[in-house]
Amino acid sequence: MQVIEQGSAIRSIVQALRCSGKSIGFVPTMGALHEGHLQLVRAAALQNDVTICSIFVNPTQFNNPDDYKLYPRSLEQDTAALAEAGCHYLFAPSTSDMYPEQSVLRFSFGVLEEVMEGAHRPGHFNGVATVVSKLFHLVQPHRAYFGQKDLQQVAVVRQLVIGLGFDLEVVCYPTIREASGLAMSSRNKRLNSEQREQAAQLHQALLRAQVQIKNKSAAAIQDDIAAYLAEVPQLQLEYFEIADPATLQPVPNPGAAAEVALCIAAYIGPVRLIDNMIVKPGQVI
Ligand code: PAF
Repeated sequence: MQVIEQGSAIRSIVQALRCSGKSIGFVPTMGALHEGHLQLVRAAALQNDVTICSIFVNPTQFNNPDDYKLYPRSLEQDTAALAEAGCHYLFAPSTSDMYPEQSVLRFSFGVLEEVMEGAHRPGHFNGVATVVSKLFHLVQPHRAYFGQKDLQQVAVVRQLVIGLGFDLEVVCYPTIREASGLAMSSRNKRLNSEQREQAAQLHQALLRAQVQIKNKSAAAIQDDIAAYLAEVPQLQLEYFEIADPATLQPVPNPGAAAEVALCIAAYIGPVRLIDNMIVKPGQVI
């Protein structure tokens, strides 16, 4: 695996690959890789001639400076894991290479960013869209891989791809979980063992909501989940929403919907985590 640090260098490599007819699979990440990322890399390696992964902790998508400062960074370990998973090129640019000057671009995703992550993290999706656009221009992938844990991000990226006419397929893979049910996330590295145990309650809450989905209103399920999670000492619920999986808009009467996304965000101590589950109410027993 080759490690490339300059945007100009990855651009030349990609141009040569495209000229020789190779298909390119791309996995954009912020590093601190876990099994969820490696699953995406393995899938990209199977489905494309060449796999490129990027590691860049993107400052413009962090609305909380501490979250940016404390975001786990483990480039050496990540490099070894990527080579093992079948990645051909790791693109790991510096901040000055990605942002030679302060970005003044502004993206708007309409109602998609008025809910959940968009509402609670002002500017977050603008930062995501900015960096993902820059990466897509540099890497010019045929397929780009994302994890379902960031469901709203996937919806935003799909809209970005349609809106700007990127000629690529967005591929989404299911969330990988630890044995406790905790969704794998780079931020889990910041949890101590007690917090890790408590964080698993997020998945328990989703399962608890799932069994109520056919017969209760969204408001009643939200009340139940808030009461359930209030018992977890270090957990501070930010939101629990029942939403349409494509538009992310609230679904007040989920029993009547073909499919809904149960979406949750909470602080465990100082660490903010998100999770979700897509459920077909008609098939819940
Ligand atoms: O999901 C992430 O790790 C980031 O939001 C992404 C897509 C790499 C953009 O910085």
